[in-house]
Amino acid sequence: MITANETAKLVVCFSLTGNTRLVAKTMAKEIDADYTEIVPIRQYPLRGAYLYIKGGKEAVFKSEPAIEAGIVRYEDYDLLIVGTPVWAGTMAPPLRTFLKSPALRGKKLFLFCTHGNGPGSCLRDMREIAQGDVVGDCDFPMGRKAAAESIGQAKILGNKLRER
Ligand SMILES: Cc1cc2nc3c(=O)[nH]c(=O)nc-3n(C[C@H](O)[C@H](O)[C@H](O)COP(=O)(O)O)c2cc1C
Repeated sequence: MITANETAKLVVCFSLTGNTRLVAKTMAKEIDADYTEIVPIRQYPLRGAYLYIKGGKEAVFKSEPAIEAGIVRYEDYDLLIVGTPVWAGTMAPPLRTFLKSPALRGKKLFLFCTHGNGPGSCLRDMREIAQGDVVGDCDFPMGRKAAAESIGQAKILGNKLRER
């Protein structure tokens, strides 16, 4: 039950192989926020060369693939914590579709991404197209050595966002 002076928070992400989901769910738990995922109507292959060809090409060419409408009522939330994997140095294409959605107008957005080597221009690109008011961002390295530390960071960040 949300009282009048509480901010209703939602963590929402796209995740193909689970890294972004892990960070997102870690934050959602710390913040005590609701959680949902962005689901593209046409699925990507989970691995293999074709994933990198199709996913990389779509990311570079700024595709906006159709995403499922879902059952979440975005109007019920004040702060959305929005996450994506980095694909070809930018956001994964389903995020491009999501961030341009008129349903985000007037919302506060905190943006994050997960990656193997570096965020590239992902967070900057997300800020550029996001409807809504971006209040902060963060990137999480998820390579073998960095992942555990990133999950620790996600907990700390979740605690900070809890107070917003
Ligand atoms: C198509 C594709 C392109 C990628 N491009 C990059 C990249 O440019 N830079 C990078 O650091 N990681 C890149 N990665 C790795 C992912 O960003 C990283 O593994 C991420 O944490 C995956 O998140 P997920 O498990 O939630 O899908 C790419 C992965 C895929 C599948």
